[in-house]
Amino acid sequence: MAILVLGGAGYIGSHAVDQLLNKGFKTIAVDHLQTGHRKAVHEKAVFYHGDIRDKPFLRSVFAKENVTGVLHFAAQSLVGESMKDPLSYFNNNVYGTQITLEVMQEFGVKHIVFSSSAAVYGEPEKVPITEDMPEKPESAYGESKLMAEKMLKWCETACGIKYVSLRYFNVAGAKTDGSIGEDHHPETHLIPILLQTALGQREEVLIFGTDYDTKDGTCIRDYVHVSDLIDAHILALEYLQNGGDSGIFNLGSSSGFSVSEMAEAARQVTERDIKVRAAARRPGDPSTLIASSDKARNILGWNPKQTDISEIIASAWNWHRQHPNGYKDK
Ligand code: UFG
Repeated sequence: MAILVLGGAGYIGSHAVDQLLNKGFKTIAVDHLQTGHRKAVHEKAVFYHGDIRDKPFLRSVFAKENVTGVLHFAAQSLVGESMKDPLSYFNNNVYGTQITLEVMQEFGVKHIVFSSSAAVYGEPEKVPITEDMPEKPESAYGESKLMAEKMLKWCETACGIKYVSLRYFNVAGAKTDGSIGEDHHPETHLIPILLQTALGQREEVLIFGTDYDTKDGTCIRDYVHVSDLIDAHILALEYLQNGGDSGIFNLGSSSGFSVSEMAEAARQVTERDIKVRAAARRPGDPSTLIASSDKARNILGWNPKQTDISEIIASAWNWHRQHPNGYKDK
């Protein structure tokens, strides 16, 4: 019995591998290592280097391992990039999920936990966002996640694969001991950029849009700690294994912070100056995204623990300070 983690060398996937192993699951990681890092994968995991769109490769993994459940993180995930290169998002995120489901069907694997995104909602009519609100993605990335969710739904009807789709808000932070964390090239996410600026690796942080209809004109996001996020995946897997129905759940902290507030919080955590400068809006960015995660709490029994924004930034800071050059320093 093993859990297969697709995208297991990525930022979020590597935390999943780590936490699954800690819980005693036999854990198999697959990654094509185009954005992930081999050093991010826990040494106790079985690792296969390959692309989930390569069906013979994925089949060979299922043939060798007794996979009983899949956590699917393997995707491209940048809103801005998806606006410039939408087809690579549909290829990776939709076609990659299709191949995964085809191979799961072939090998009779019945449970998948899928990484979806708040980006499926687009600009919400109200916040906090609940799962029954309309999906109107404003980016190709969000659209690709919604298409994959629809594929999961039709697959369940036709071939009985049960799924939990988790719609993440802004995932942040790192494992408490700072041994794994976020390392993207190029980095586009706000918290790592703030912390790289605190480390002196960047001169300043550009604030993308200061004319949004929010309290200080900058975008508001809901930040969730990566370890809490993975707890929800493990609960979702156990829920499916215990006969739970397929479903969609938001994962966030239910509180929103503006970009300017995040910069100030990062200054306080790091006790360093972080220069910011107003810049144009980034295409595809909704102004405010805040989750209602009541459904995940009530049905999955999710109980996020690291909800304080300073604590989330401090855990990311612990990783960045120990590894200013990311996995090159490991
Ligand atoms: N931002 C800046 N300057 C920067 C980087 C980011 O002002 O240098 C702003 C963005 O415009 C946005 C906020 O900070 O308003 C957060 O941006 P991130 O790039 O950190 O995260 P996103 O909200 O764009 O996207 C993240 C994930 C997506 C996911 C989305 C859901 O990358 O996969 O959260 O909310 F879909």
